Amino acid sequence: MSSSIDTRPVILTGDRTTGPLHLGHYAGSLKSRVALQRSHRQFLLLADTQALTDNAHDPEKVRRNVLEVAFDYLAVGIDPLETTICLQSALPALAELTLLYLNFVTVSRLERNPTIKTEIQLRGFERDVPAGFLCYPVAQAADITAFRATVVPVGEDQAPLIEQTNEIVRRLNRQVGRDILVEAEAMIPAVGRLPGVDGKAKMSKSQGNAISLSASPDEITDAVRRMYTDPAHLRASDPGKIEGNVVFTYLDAFSDDGQLLEDLKERYRRGGLGDITVKRHLEDILQALLAPIRERRARYAAEPGHVLGILREGSLKARERTEATLAELRAALGLFTLT
Ligand code: TRP
Repeated sequence: MSSSIDTRPVILTGDRTTGPLHLGHYAGSLKSRVALQRSHRQFLLLADTQALTDNAHDPEKVRRNVLEVAFDYLAVGIDPLETTICLQSALPALAELTLLYLNFVTVSRLERNPTIKTEIQLRGFERDVPAGFLCYPVAQAADITAFRATVVPVGEDQAPLIEQTNEIVRRLNRQVGRDILVEAEAMIPAVGRLPGVDGKAKMSKSQGNAISLSASPDEITDAVRRMYTDPAHLRASDPGKIEGNVVFTYLDAFSDDGQLLEDLKERYRRGGLGDITVKRHLEDILQALLAPIRERRARYAAEPGHVLGILREGSLKARERTEATLAELRAALGLFTLT
């Protein structure tokens, strides 16, 4: 849409550039981003500076994966004519807003943030938490408000970050005496997080239980073969459990034939349906889903210069928008101007 007055609600979301995206990202966010890109004005942030907050020891990984994530976006159907894809480190206004916002949040509030608490534990930081990591929710508040986003599609685990953002928004609005920043709402996907193929709670590349969006046909076959089912379901004739059965969880996420799926569940529960048969069905679905994504991805990856152009253009647009917010806020706070 190129009309000069764009009244669509604004979405900002993004991903840390720490590795190529996988099927969990597809089910949890990429699919809905593709679906929302016409009804909403959508900005996607390649969050490389946020990725550094827990990868400062490996900036090369963060750098390398910028294009990988961009390839994934384009491969699943993010249309650069509809969605603005931009690079966080190319938007200095975000860093400056972060610095200003840091004065409107306390260290103890940051330490109480449930997302951060869990992540600190997961990463084993213990007492050696990088200050940048503790403060990344403030940077994320800067991301969201700089774009004046009102809708932020994120996983459930990120909901406390939106709350934190809105607290900062209210503090600043109170400080300047008007609603200069807008509050945002988290849009949590209806489907829960996709488990790993091994049945562990979370699909993640580092756990080796993920199916990447560029997985080859053989890798898909192998992953489905390894998939965790019901360990007590030994023979096809045995009754089986659906709950916690990864094959059925994936079918719930990816099958578009609800009736067929209900029938399969019913037969599996009753006994008389073997794992191999259900897995073959899931494999067909995943092969069909991923084949065009893999092909499109390969085409983009063969033309990195073209993709770079998309990021450059998107970042220019994003720069304008974020700098406008920063300029307004600087003025409202009454910072000294040298002009
Ligand atoms: N925190 C998100 C992640 O871990 C990435 C991100 C950075 C983001 N800035 C954002 C998400 C702003 C939504 C809005 O993947």
